Amino acid sequence: MTDQLSKEQQRLAELESEISKFEEAITNIRQGDFSETSDELNRAMTENTKLKFRLEILNKAISNERKSLKTAPQVSGMISIVSHLKDVFQQAIVAAFPELNNAPCVVTESPKADYQCSSSMAICQLLKEKQIKTSPMEVAKKIIEKIPYSSLIDKTEISGPGFINIFLSKDYVKQAIHSILNDGVKPPQTEKKRIVIDFSSPNVAKEMHVGHLRSTIIGDSIARLLEFMGHDVLRINHVGDWGTQFGMLIAHLEDRFPDFVNVSPPIADLQSFYKESKKRFDEDEEFKKRAYDRVVKLQSGESNSTKAWQLICDVSRREFQKIYDSLDIKIVERGESFYQSRMEKLVKELETKGLLEADDGRFIMWGDKNDDFGGIPLTIIKTGGGFTYDTSDMATIKQRIEEEKADWLIYITDAGQATHFKAIFSCAKRAGILDSSKIRVDHVGFGVVLGEDGKKFKTRSGDTVKLAELLDEGLKRSIAKLMEKERDKILNEEEMKEAQKNVAYGCIKYADLSKNCKNEYVFSFDKMLEDKGNTAVYLLYANTRICSIARNLGEEFLKSLPKLKKETSIELEHVKELKLAKVLIQFPDIIDRILRDLTINTLCEYLYQIATTFTEFYDVCYCIEKNKQGEIVKINTSRILLCEAATAVMSECFKILGLKTLQKI
Ligand code: ARG
Repeated sequence: MTDQLSKEQQRLAELESEISKFEEAITNIRQGDFSETSDELNRAMTENTKLKFRLEILNKAISNERKSLKTAPQVSGMISIVSHLKDVFQQAIVAAFPELNNAPCVVTESPKADYQCSSSMAICQLLKEKQIKTSPMEVAKKIIEKIPYSSLIDKTEISGPGFINIFLSKDYVKQAIHSILNDGVKPPQTEKKRIVIDFSSPNVAKEMHVGHLRSTIIGDSIARLLEFMGHDVLRINHVGDWGTQFGMLIAHLEDRFPDFVNVSPPIADLQSFYKESKKRFDEDEEFKKRAYDRVVKLQSGESNSTKAWQLICDVSRREFQKIYDSLDIKIVERGESFYQSRMEKLVKELETKGLLEADDGRFIMWGDKNDDFGGIPLTIIKTGGGFTYDTSDMATIKQRIEEEKADWLIYITDAGQATHFKAIFSCAKRAGILDSSKIRVDHVGFGVVLGEDGKKFKTRSGDTVKLAELLDEGLKRSIAKLMEKERDKILNEEEMKEAQKNVAYGCIKYADLSKNCKNEYVFSFDKMLEDKGNTAVYLLYANTRICSIARNLGEEFLKSLPKLKKETSIELEHVKELKLAKVLIQFPDIIDRILRDLTINTLCEYLYQIATTFTEFYDVCYCIEKNKQGEIVKINTSRILLCEAATAVMSECFKILGLKTLQKI
């Protein structure tokens, strides 16, 4: 800020305070405090008018000075605009209404202006409660008077009964685009946290079904987002690898392959193996007894049982890994078995604290009375002494807070487990394990996957759909789509393969991520492979096309790009240029919003908004002009750079969603 500007601002502040003194005096006199004579009143009123006039002149001078400022605006880089405006308006509200200590400050994006502050009505109400009569309009005026200088704001306007419309300064928009081009797409600033995210988590020997696929895709994307924010993220695969079913699996293995300790048994089809053992368990009392005996042995660490259990887990692990490799998912396996000794300790702790209640042979624990814990108690010890899914999750929460030193725990499962997690969080609070003022816990619950017939997702023959087969089907469909679009004429074999995979897996992931995860979701290859609307195919195509705008200008141009990014001033003269730029610089706000409630579909909507705003821009703003012979006669560098900024933001969104972009399509 220039010296001149700061001097003028100081003078302005002095004048404002003089005026308010005069205004106070005038009000006193009007209210019957006749300690001043009417001459005094007249003098004060004239003086007040003069001062107001001077104030107006100074205000104008300042606004002109701001416009002519050549120096960089005070905020640099990409920032969360909504948070910045909230700070600015918070200051203004406090200055305008020092008598209120709980005045709300609400700033949101607005279709009419760029942003809007809608606090006036609520503040008016609060003032009324203090017997101060005013109107939202008056409140809005007072807030506007107190807005401190911000390089982001071009102007403000009152709209409707007292909304304050906020218009962004074009200089700020230009500067933020410049920052995207030169510093990259940066996350909003935040304090680094240790986060444990529990997702995917299929069950050994049982099917990894589409529900686990949802958990895998959503969990991976949330983890990617948190990693992008710079947090320290531990991705945990809480596989179901403990419990009664292992007793029967081990007993069955001992019978069928007594030499399993030396020879790897052929249990490639673990599912049928599981079915066989279950049948015996249900029909054969003697087998059942042995199965129970094996669980006890396994849980006490007996070596042959442990060896058998490891073999079974290995088979499942290999199957899971195939899916993770295809979808490029990184995750650390730490199943229920990991918590055995911790569950023992935990149960003792709960007993000592007097939190367990005997209930018909089992031991239960109720959540905190003040919480919504779902109304159902946890079963901590089963009749007969075993632990349950509840016990293991109480142990996960304790282990993750105390040993992993996590500040934030996230669990991703089907919405059917919402009550389970409510009870877990509440009991953990009651037991003094979870201090919710220090640690954030989230359960992200998603809806069931349905087939196109609206029924539970099954194959035609009624079996559950195997994930590996589903992914293969995706590959087949995507290559068919690419052939239909005659991509094989443009792409070589390797590029075709890459496109096939990226399109197939991208579509499967995007179809899942782009819906509000709380709702049911209809799995349809036809819909997800459509190339119109908010689909992965449309967006991947759009991004590749944007990328190729600069690429088509040739090697030389590409080489000069870094220099151009630094030196070119971004012109945002056309409304569609400005509109696109304003969408791009919302990125940090979008991220902030997602972090609040972990709704990744917001990012998909944003991506789609960029793509459609880009089309609006590209339809009317020439980036490259060619003559009739098709030769380039003019390159609009600023617009090319805007395209570069668009693909930079889009690419970052794709990365967070776990989608791989394509160089050529
Ligand atoms: N294995 C469980 C299931 O298939 C999901 C486990 C989720 N994680 C947890 N800590 N409970 O439903």
